[in-house]
Amino acid sequence: MLDTPACALLADAQEGLNRPQKTLSPKWFYDARGSALFEQITRLPEYYPTRTEAAILRTDALRLAGLVPPGGALVELGSGASVKTRTLLDAGGHFGAYVPIDISEEFLLETAAHLRARYPYLPVHPVVGDFTQAVILPEAIVDQPKVGFFPGSTIGNLDPGEAVALLARARVWPGITRFVLGADLVKEQGDLIAAYDDAAGVTAAFNRNVLHRLNREVGADFDVPVFRHEARWCEDPARIEMHLVATRAQVVHLAGQDIHFAEGESIHTESCRKYTRRTLATLAAQAGWRLEDMLTDPRDRFAVAILTV
Ligand code: SAH
Ligand code: AVI
Repeated sequence: MLDTPACALLADAQEGLNRPQKTLSPKWFYDARGSALFEQITRLPEYYPTRTEAAILRTDALRLAGLVPPGGALVELGSGASVKTRTLLDAGGHFGAYVPIDISEEFLLETAAHLRARYPYLPVHPVVGDFTQAVILPEAIVDQPKVGFFPGSTIGNLDPGEAVALLARARVWPGITRFVLGADLVKEQGDLIAAYDDAAGVTAAFNRNVLHRLNREVGADFDVPVFRHEARWCEDPARIEMHLVATRAQVVHLAGQDIHFAEGESIHTESCRKYTRRTLATLAAQAGWRLEDMLTDPRDRFAVAILTV
């Protein structure tokens, strides 16, 4: 018997791997190993987004923490290891609660335990959930004023429609006043490709992790090393696409079904959209938010948008 997440993984895989362009949702990268691999990615020399965004957050930490009213809650989507968040928690001694929301259960609960040890005065309410659907906020913070936080450019992994829907759902969270959104900006193609195809092969391992998951959790039989990691730059709309390319023809078995791969055929595993100030402002406006400010680094590589209801 498969547990609930494995059932959802199988249903998604069956649907995605039967499309003309085979696809898997990037949310399936993140089991405990995938989350740990992502943390390794954040420290790679080629992966500029994390350190660039972290520097913006440090520069404006007091202002950003000050957006949360005294006793209010900071609610973070796709919180991962909550590393950058600590900059806000350190500056936010007045916060009433921190609510990290993530799909990677084991990693989330471990992170929450570390945070409770580091900030013993701060109630931490982790929520295991999928932010592509409505998330149920903890009872304890329902009446508190709250600020949403969605760093990392994880918004860029969503389809445009999904991104607007997520921002629109957050806009009607009870008591929400602001939403702080981190988004990666369009830049030189070489830098973008390098960030998603690092020399040490960590991103390749992260990408292939989804196949290991399918083998382990739903009994598929992918010959994982046969799939090559590829990062492609696509102009319109501006994005990096990650693919797993079959280096030879093969048949994979998935819950009694044969999935045929031609040599060179790929599974599209992730899109990482890159914004301009204009496309980011448009996205916020489509979801009914007003853009209050956009903080960037001196080289305009990454943006942290402050949205207000
Ligand atoms: N916020 C962190 C981590 C970004 S990695 C940072 O900026 O470094 C993306 C995070 O989002 C991961 O922790 C992953 O588990 C989570 N995630 C991805 N898809 C998700 C989904 N559909 N619902 C909830 N969390 C998701
Ligand atoms: C989480 N997300 C924003 C990362 C990104 O840059 O799109 C995931 C990632 N994929 C490959 N490297 C990092």
